[in-house]
Amino acid sequence: MRSDKDARIRRALLGWYDRARRELPWRTTRDPYAIWVAETMLQQTQVKTVLPYYYRFLAAFPSVIDLDRARRDKVLALWSGLGYYRRPTNLKKAAREIVLRHGGRLPRDFAALRELPGVGDYTAGAVMSIAFGARYPALDANARRVLSRIYGLSDNARLRALAARVVPASRPGDFNQALMDLGATVCPARNPRCADCPVGAHCAASHAGPIAKTAAKPPPRKVEWPLAIVAKNGRILLRRRHRHGLLAGMWEIPGGEKKPRERATAALARELAAVGARVASATMLGIVRHSITNRSIRAPVYFCALAGDPSGGLRGWRWFALDALKKLPISALSVKAARLAPQA
Ligand code: ADE
Repeated sequence: MRSDKDARIRRALLGWYDRARRELPWRTTRDPYAIWVAETMLQQTQVKTVLPYYYRFLAAFPSVIDLDRARRDKVLALWSGLGYYRRPTNLKKAAREIVLRHGGRLPRDFAALRELPGVGDYTAGAVMSIAFGARYPALDANARRVLSRIYGLSDNARLRALAARVVPASRPGDFNQALMDLGATVCPARNPRCADCPVGAHCAASHAGPIAKTAAKPPPRKVEWPLAIVAKNGRILLRRRHRHGLLAGMWEIPGGEKKPRERATAALARELAAVGARVASATMLGIVRHSITNRSIRAPVYFCALAGDPSGGLRGWRWFALDALKKLPISALSVKAARLAPQA
């Protein structure tokens, strides 16, 4: 009977979680705010990448009230390098709503959580189960893959229904996190270690023979993105990205994608011409690389001298001392490139 299978799987997973779970800072708190922040950071991002950001973020904004009062730029600055920058923008908007509509506390209600900016089924389910001990599923990519293998199901709607059925009333948060941990450690997409699996005996996929490896992702698109370090009086010139779109509102070293047969310095001249600046000379300082989502960026970094002073039409552009960059919301690629800047 399927309820027997469900019960065996719950027992095996929770037992394994008690023995083998990863010690993670959001597992030593029941503070719904801290758990919400963690789950937001963990969207599309690995645990080891998230950890230092999580500590810094909670030290700077220990409560919803602190996050609500914080300057948006400070929130973005603490997120710089973590990627997917709509997440901190949404966290901040949600903090406002939590203060205005819920007295500064995360609502203990799935539908109310789901209405907050940036909170989808996954995050609402994770907060309900982990922070409030309520019986909700939380299917991230790892949990989805594990359940799909155990039950031999791939249809999304059926997987969601299965996850809602199988999550237990007792320890729902631990159960959900056990699925995530198992997926991250023993049961990854490629090369699962079925011999070490606590639910191997009940797993449809392992009974069906060696588990088919998930297809490799398509290779990232290679992008050539020259950058210009323009210096004056110990400061460098940065420009601010548009309020909407990729890396919204973040600062960056000027540069842009090179066209197929264009020279890197011509691409830079084009970017700087936008503020009426003419490049008099460009000296290569080095190359930095950065990968985001499905792009692999190679950025040759040039030290550029300008003919004349661009201070005229510099809306959205500003000079910054190098040691001020730490406090700015700034793209990860620019942080890497700035390390090549000659110290004044
Ligand atoms: N990935 C997303 N949420 C997680 C959690 N609570 N623990 C470990 N990995 C996760």
